[in-house]
Amino acid sequence: MHDDATATATPEAPQETGALIDHILTHYHEMHRADLASLVPLAERVEQVHADDPDAPTGLARALATLAREMEDHMAKEELILFPAMRAGGGAGIEHPIAVMRADHDDHAATIARIRKLTGDLTPPEHACGSWRSLYGGTATLLDELAAHIALENDVLFPRFETAR
Ligand SMILES: [Fe+2]
Ligand SMILES: [Fe+2]
Repeated sequence: MHDDATATATPEAPQETGALIDHILTHYHEMHRADLASLVPLAERVEQVHADDPDAPTGLARALATLAREMEDHMAKEELILFPAMRAGGGAGIEHPIAVMRADHDDHAATIARIRKLTGDLTPPEHACGSWRSLYGGTATLLDELAAHIALENDVLFPRFETAR
């Protein structure tokens, strides 16, 4: 997990389509995978250590694992199908996989809402320990970066191929 302030979540994205895709892959896809790989076991530990605390985020590790699975399926489709087609210049029918990706983006919202609900919108209680705080801080950063990632695809990358026909 990286501890950057959320202000660094939307660095300058390159203009050119191939470079923009590279930027999405390294700055978002790989970063999300690394963040989730550490947040899920951290949530398991916090839930376990604070099992008797009524403020503990029971179910958070499961919700994060669900988000990781949904995002992995989605990012794999972009990496294996959509982005290679875009690098090759797009072409007839590309609006169909783009529509599927937009629907996937909307589908992440239910799991994200569950994560926010379980954690009081990622606000740790007064008495939260360091691990608990770092779990909520890391999850907040992940969700901010995921929102920036989705906005970059929905608003910048995808329209280039939806309107070029
Ligand atoms: Fe993506
Ligand atoms: Fe996406």
